[in-house]
Amino acid sequence: MKGKSWYRKPEIAEEYDLKRFEGEGGSYIDKCEKNSVGAAIGNFEGKKILDLAAGTGRFSIMAAQKGAYVTSCDISKPMLEIAYNKAKERGVESNIDFIRADAENLPLKDSSFDVVMAIRFMHLVDEPSKYLKEMKRVSKDKILFDTFSFSSFRILYNRLLPMGSKLYSDEEVNDLAKKCNLNIMKKLNGFAVPFAVYRYSPDFIIGAFQNINEKMLNIDLGRKLSSVNYWVMEKDK
Ligand SMILES: C[S@@+](CC[C@H](N)C(=O)[O-])C[C@H]1O[C@@H](n2cnc3c(N)ncnc32)[C@H](O)[C@@H]1O
Repeated sequence: MKGKSWYRKPEIAEEYDLKRFEGEGGSYIDKCEKNSVGAAIGNFEGKKILDLAAGTGRFSIMAAQKGAYVTSCDISKPMLEIAYNKAKERGVESNIDFIRADAENLPLKDSSFDVVMAIRFMHLVDEPSKYLKEMKRVSKDKILFDTFSFSSFRILYNRLLPMGSKLYSDEEVNDLAKKCNLNIMKKLNGFAVPFAVYRYSPDFIIGAFQNINEKMLNIDLGRKLSSVNYWVMEKDK
């Protein structure tokens, strides 16, 4: 998996938001992901949040705008620079600490955050338990991450992605939680129609895909086909 080095290239960092979250389809993806993260965390006000593999700061900025104290951590300098500039433009940079570190070995104290989250990260790593244990160490209690699902339409293009991308089954995530002594508190389903469809379709057709996606997520079969799952876990007490 090349995730650790891929996003350190300035040209890749530069096009990250543009390629994924612009236009009708991109904005819909961004909105749905933020809704899921919002639903998973609940109240942000006054919470200390670590946004791991924060990238261009989409969720760090959202959390800061909702009143959280955020630490935004990434291994890529160019991604962090973009995140800082975006936070400054939106006037929330003073509520965010930006640190450059490897998620495998964080320069942070035990139990120092109310919530530790990592979005669009687990698909980039070969040994998820190593990272999850480190997330658990620095969290007081709650951990949130997403996985890309094996049983979804993403399987049709997943192997073509240049940075490498791991798909997970629910059983694998259950085993992972057990291995790290974490309890799964909540699982949210997203994107029965996968990212690529919104990214590569013309604007005029995005509304139709949104409808199909939302209808599918309301039925059992559609939820089973969801390509992104959001997992809220808590430490075993
Ligand atoms: C796909 S981006 C996701 C960014 C952001 N969370 C989002 O959803 O937009 C993945 C990010 O993980 C970062 N990353 C990859 N391996 C890492 C590691 N070992 N430690 C910290 N960050 C890492 C990359 O630099 C990149 O910014």
